[in-house]
Amino acid sequence: MGQPQQPDEAGAGAATAATAGAAVATGAGTAEAVTGSGNGAGATVTKPTLGVGMVGYAFMGAAHSQGWRTVGRVFDLPHQPVLAAICGRDGAAVRAAADRHGWAAAETDWRALIERDDVDLVDICTPGDSHAEIALAALAAGKHVLCEKPLANTVAEAEAMAEAAEAARARGRLAMVGFNYRRVPATALARRMVAEGRLGALRHVRVTYLQDWLVDPEFPLTWRLRKESAGSGSLGDLGAHIVDLAQYLAGERLAGVSALTETFVRERPLPVGATSGLSTVSSAGTGQVTVDDAALFTGRFTSGALASFEATRYATGRKNALRIELNGERGSLAFDLERLNELSYHDGAEPAAHAGFRRILVTEPDHPYLEAWWPPGHGLGYEHSFVHQARDLVHAIAEGREPQPSFADGLQVQRVLAAVEESAEKNSVYTPIAV
Ligand SMILES: NC(=O)c1ccc[n+]([C@@H]2O[C@H](COP(=O)([O-])OP(=O)(O)OC[C@H]3O[C@@H](n4cnc5c(N)ncnc54)[C@H](O)[C@@H]3O)[C@@H](O)[C@H]2O)c1
Repeated sequence: MGQPQQPDEAGAGAATAATAGAAVATGAGTAEAVTGSGNGAGATVTKPTLGVGMVGYAFMGAAHSQGWRTVGRVFDLPHQPVLAAICGRDGAAVRAAADRHGWAAAETDWRALIERDDVDLVDICTPGDSHAEIALAALAAGKHVLCEKPLANTVAEAEAMAEAAEAARARGRLAMVGFNYRRVPATALARRMVAEGRLGALRHVRVTYLQDWLVDPEFPLTWRLRKESAGSGSLGDLGAHIVDLAQYLAGERLAGVSALTETFVRERPLPVGATSGLSTVSSAGTGQVTVDDAALFTGRFTSGALASFEATRYATGRKNALRIELNGERGSLAFDLERLNELSYHDGAEPAAHAGFRRILVTEPDHPYLEAWWPPGHGLGYEHSFVHQARDLVHAIAEGREPQPSFADGLQVQRVLAAVEESAEKNSVYTPIAV
């Protein structure tokens, strides 16, 4: 398994867009004329297309649709993504979603989606219980895969997926897991600064991911609250994000963890009908919550740096508060997703008389991803991370190199989550992370 935390070219601040009409590389569809794509408004360029087929059309389906729809109009890509087909199980609903989000066709069985000749890449935006089955079938069918996080519901599933991705890579087919918070310009800039050595040796990484949508005990028992569909609760949903982000920014992996988990409300009303994202309607019956509501853990990086993590859906008043701070011997960095155009930086070399945290407004063309967007000061939002995710994946496919985070990286995060669960079950005993 390779080291996952190398900055990609955006994170490393290298040049952005590849030349329009670049040579055809692995797994793209037929070259065809694309008019007015990318930054060459009005121009007709010939570039290979990359047919995307997406499974799931609710919260992440909408976010990924936005990414695929927008990416070729903002970045000058080597391949032109085409929104070929979208899949859901309800025919009328998936056709409506196709119209709303701009997909050319709709399917009601993901197997049919995978078989389509116009689909080069399968984008999995379903709950975790279907990730492994869909990804394995798509890779076996010779498609590239983008899979939402967490990669799987169990380590065993994630191992099978990483193994299949490794085999597919030998055939020129690539797989990536959707840890989109790496693709916020400020976090990519933070990675670049850590890689440049601005913090020196790391001592602490402090991360919290706080939401509050479960505070109401009458909130229904959606798929996120069932182990068989979600794998785990706040741990897999929010904890997976912050484990990946912490390791990515630190540029190293966790060696072991010590954890506490809790399920505060163990029985909830059953939902009525389809649930989408975080919203639904409840009925009279009730069912058991079978996942954690909150997970707190400490960890040790391989370098000896110490980390703390908090993932909860019970932080009353906190909506999507992902905060991370890194303290090194030479400086510190801090990021808050609720102020995502900003990065706080303290340079320990500055004279004490006027040293302190300063705010970097991450909107300059020199900042990762921002050469293609708006003038300085005109900020970006949550959805742009999905545009950047699509951009990085298209470049990796065109260049035939493994995208990051790879399925191997997703597997390693899954092992961290499993170690957290094991530690919590054993009275918080320090639990090494399997390699
Ligand atoms: N990257 C992020 O920031 C982020 C945010 C939220 C969710 N997620 C992840 O995205 C995934 C989906 O979460 P969501 O919030 O979009 O869920 P959601 O409930 O909003 O949507 C799930 C979709 O999958 C569809 N679906 C379920 N089983 C299916 C099947 N067998 N065949 C076809 N369609 C099927 C549902 O109909 C629905 O359209 C999960 O893995 C979740 O952890 C990631």
